[in-house]
This record gives sequence, structure tokens and C-alpha cells, in this order.
Amino acid sequence: MIAGNWKMNKTPSETVALLKELKAINPGKVEMVVCPMTVSLFAAAPLLKGTEVHLGAQNVHFEDKGAFTGEANAASLKELGVEYVILGHSERRQYFGETDETVNKKTLHCLKNGLKPIVCVGESLSEKQRGITNEVVCLQTKAALSGVSGAQISDVVIAYEPIWAIGTGMTATAQDANATISAIRRAIREVYGDAAEQVRILYGGSMNEKNASELMRQPEIDGGLIGGARLVASKFEQVIHY
Ligand code: PGA
Repeated sequence: MIAGNWKMNKTPSETVALLKELKAINPGKVEMVVCPMTVSLFAAAPLLKGTEVHLGAQNVHFEDKGAFTGEANAASLKELGVEYVILGHSERRQYFGETDETVNKKTLHCLKNGLKPIVCVGESLSEKQRGITNEVVCLQTKAALSGVSGAQISDVVIAYEPIWAIGTGMTATAQDANATISAIRRAIREVYGDAAEQVRILYGGSMNEKNASELMRQPEIDGGLIGGARLVASKFEQVIHY
């Protein structure tokens, strides 16, 4: 899976223009996902119907509906044709108070409502320097998955995104990314056994058209969550065709 996290970029009309280019890409055996801003999903959805491009959102609330000003609910995303929802991105944890607890609630809510969560986990620079990367990401993963059943686990996607690598141009080495993802898979295996092999675990953090092939060659890395390189169709295409 190669997923583009568009973050707070591209108005609805700009979304339509970019998707017209992206639709022309042949993804081959890669599952290609685009995640525009919530307000641009309405413009994106009809364009993507019947295409090989899957639609994702960047957030959802964990309640069905009610007095939650400014939020969007799962039923609306579902109605639009959204399949995936990015949860717990480090920018949401840092700027919008997202915690392991809310990420868990949202994960369960997505699965209950037929949406597939892309749960982001990752360590800070200081955690990396202290040598506790695996502990941090495994804890985040287990917290996010608390209460997810064995039947649901294969619908979950995890994105390992070292915070220090997001938008900085610094990437984890392919070997380090592979080792951390391997640790995450072991943590999932402890609870879900062999089903851990069905969980796709992506790498994210300055993945681009230049380093995608080396990262994707690693046996544990099942795809990428792409920020910076997602807004130019030709670059995204090169990542898709790593
Ligand atoms: P980046 O972002 O590719 O720009 O580092 C990745 C992400 O935030 O998901």
C-alpha cells in the first residue's frame, strides 16, 4: 500500500485537478490510497468511484454524532465512499491533543463502522537517542489495538513514522525502519498470533521517489505513508512504481 497524506493542502478544486492526474497512474499490484482534507473529500469521492484509487480521510470522531463542534463522523465518511482513516498522526498528537486513548477509541469506532484505520506510531528524536524506539512504538501499537478482535485485525494498517523524519528530509535507514517494523509485528503477534502477518505495516517519514525502492525492498515494510512527495503526481507515481 502506498498512501498519500495530503495534510492541510489542496482546496476542493485543486483536489479535483490533482486527482485527474493521479487517476491516470496504473498502480499495478500496489494499493494506492489518497487522503485529502476532510472538506475536499466530497469533491474527491465521485471522481474516484470505479477507479483503482482508494479514498482515505485524515481523522474521524469516535462518537456516532452529537455536540462535537468541528468534528466529522464515521457515517458521513462512509457515505462519501471513504475506506481508510489516518489516526494518531504525530501532528494530531502534537497539535490537537490526540492521545493513545483517543486513538484507540477511534480505531474501534472505525472498525465498527466499516472504515479501515491507518494507525500512526513513532518515536521522537530524544526517544530514539535514548534507545527506547521499540518500547515506544510497541506500546503505542498495543494501546491503539486494545479491544480489536482477531476478526478485525487484518483490516488495521499501522504506519511507523519516526517523528524526527516527518517533513524533515531525514529518513530512517531502511535497515532501522525494517527492524522497528519487525518489532511492531512481534508485538501484534503476541496478541493475534499468525494474523500479524496480515497486518500491513507501512513506513512514513520523508519517503520519496528516491528512497522508496530501498525501503520497499525490506521484507517487513509493506508500504509507505507519503507526505511531502504526494502532491506532485509524477513524484507520487514514481513512489508507486518503486
Ligand atoms: P513526509 O510526511 O513524507 O512529508 O515526511 C509523512 C507523514 O506525515 O505522513
